[in-house]
Amino acid sequence: MKLKSAPTRGRTLDHAAFVYDALEPVLLLGKQAEYDRHLLALLKLTGSDRVLDLGCGTGVLTRMIGDRLDAAAGGESVGIDAAAKMIAVARKKRASDHCRFEVMAAENLAFEDAVFDAVVSSLFFHHVQMDLKEKALAEAFRVLKPGGRLVIADMHLPTTWMGALVSHVSRWFFMQPQIGENIRGVLPEVIAGAGFLRPDIVATYFGYIALFTTRKPEA
Ligand SMILES: C[S@@+](CC[C@H](N)C(=O)[O-])C[C@H]1O[C@@H](n2cnc3c(N)ncnc32)[C@H](O)[C@@H]1O
Repeated sequence: MKLKSAPTRGRTLDHAAFVYDALEPVLLLGKQAEYDRHLLALLKLTGSDRVLDLGCGTGVLTRMIGDRLDAAAGGESVGIDAAAKMIAVARKKRASDHCRFEVMAAENLAFEDAVFDAVVSSLFFHHVQMDLKEKALAEAFRVLKPGGRLVIADMHLPTTWMGALVSHVSRWFFMQPQIGENIRGVLPEVIAGAGFLRPDIVATYFGYIALFTTRKPEA
């Protein structure tokens, strides 16, 4: 049965699904493996964790997470993306018995409350405007267990002149005001506003991508 994309006002990438795996290593300047390993380390996984990847694209990171979990102990990695074509590629190339993919908008998650140990998101938040950033983070907060970890990698205040150039050019080239919000530095406030502890920036890549870590307070 043909998958249908989830309704959203976010900038989805259905049109790029079949070239995305070839494009991303170029966009990450050959550092994709290092970047993904960094996110994995920040997630501090244990085998029984249930992990949600928001805006998972073709599921490279989701599958890497799944490979570190123990299905017998309940470990599971779930990737969601609003673009049906992204999910179709992810399912075909990366699904396993403890790694699954669902078409879903991050601002409207079809999961029960408090069912995930960690939520991760890579390069998703610059695809959605402010109210959807807020809703997606409220949803991440809702589906995380108390004490659950949140790891976000996304465009943020540029830290180098090259980072500033790339991010401002992207904002205007892609006509994407959502990028403008990110590079004005809105994410820490929005993350804390959803109820998370104030996030730490633990690393930056290329002068415009920041890695944030935080967690949902214990009940
Ligand atoms: C730049 S890609 C990032 C993919 C992957 N996480 C990575 O790091 O390569 C951003 C993804 O967010 C998805 N997206 C955009 N709006 C969305 C929404 N409201 N809910 C879920 N996914 C969304 C797009 O379809 C796209 O696959």
